[in-house]
Amino acid sequence: MKIVTVAGTRPQLVKVASVSRELRKYATEVLVNTGQHYDYRMAGVFFEELQIPKPDYDLGIGSASHGKQTGEMLMAIEEVLIKESPDAVLVYGDTNSTIAGALAASKLHLPVIHVEAGLRSFNKTMPEEINRIITDHVSSLLFSPTGAAIDNLRQENITENVIETGDVMYDAVLYNIGIAEEKYQLEAFGVKEKKYILATIHRAENTDSEERLSAIFRAFAALDDDVILPLHPRTKNKLREFGLEHLLVNAANIKAIEPVSYLEMLLLEKNASTIVTDSGGVQKEAYFARVPCLTVRPETEWVETVEAGCNMLVDPVKEDLSVVIKNFRPKSFEVQLYGDGKAAQKIAKETMMYLERKTALSG
Ligand code: UD1
Ligand code: UDP
Repeated sequence: MKIVTVAGTRPQLVKVASVSRELRKYATEVLVNTGQHYDYRMAGVFFEELQIPKPDYDLGIGSASHGKQTGEMLMAIEEVLIKESPDAVLVYGDTNSTIAGALAASKLHLPVIHVEAGLRSFNKTMPEEINRIITDHVSSLLFSPTGAAIDNLRQENITENVIETGDVMYDAVLYNIGIAEEKYQLEAFGVKEKKYILATIHRAENTDSEERLSAIFRAFAALDDDVILPLHPRTKNKLREFGLEHLLVNAANIKAIEPVSYLEMLLLEKNASTIVTDSGGVQKEAYFARVPCLTVRPETEWVETVEAGCNMLVDPVKEDLSVVIKNFRPKSFEVQLYGDGKAAQKIAKETMMYLERKTALSG
């Protein structure tokens, strides 16, 4: 069996690392890197550290408006699929790389396999929500991390070939945390165990609003603790565009740094006293690391962490984020929310079973 995998952003590379390792035991995988993320610290370092196989195709699409970026990916992926003629196309999550891969495949009548199916924020102003909904509706095999995601699919009448697997990001943490602790030292970041806050902000709804962005950074500056802030390039650009860089420069407690590698990030997450984020992946990793999390968004797809009382949504304009950070006390981290760490194995096996069934029926 031949499977084309399409990926191209930082969080997708983390997921690919776990699934490729399993999938390649049973199938030939052709890896297509769209190049949606291209800085070394957004992509290259992930390939190296996580030992992701070298892509068979580097499309080098890069940044552009949504339509242009997605359209260019669609054209380039279609060419690859026609040339490779795979048995299926595997996509991850909810980015423009995801929807481009799913659309290119479905228009060629190739089965689409979606990892992280059924996640919903119910907020259609998010580009990711559109990407998820469309991808799920053109997918033939849907791997959902949670029961809640499966319920969401059921609400949209998607019930066939839907499988609950747990979350591949949990697999990635279990596989890599020991490696991270051997390779990196916390001292290198100039902070002490449980004496700093780790923050990541990159969502369009925060970065593209001057009011929200400045409220978030003013709150960080008002904290007594150090705040380590690996800055996504989008956030760095927007701070410059809005003339808000002084908020970082003038705050002695904020350590704004380049994006860190995945292994460095795991170390920083594990030792943080609190994590403040608008990232999907980082919300879950906070839970895995048993670190309280504040999510700077009006809603989350990862509702289980909020229901468990370990993650709380905050509006940085209506509330004083610095006070919320100081006062938040999480409930218990005891419940296993995202599977048993064997999601990738399940995905690989179920994919093979599905493709074998399909071949048997058509033959
Ligand atoms: C994308 C995903 C988002 C995901 C995030 C993970 C979409 C619609 N959004 O958002 O769901 O959470 O990735 O990080 O697909 N840039 C660089 N260097 C890079 C990459 C980006 O400088 O290597 C800058 C460019 O100015 C670019 C901007 O960041 O315009 C945004 O990048 P883009 O990939 O379009 O979206 P993200 O915000 O990264
Ligand atoms: N991450 C990283 N370095 C950073 C910020 C994030 O390695 O500087 C990792 C993080 O640990 C998680 C993934 O990138 O595994 C999340 O990606 P991101 O927040 O960009 O996207 P999202 O999950 O919101 O789509």
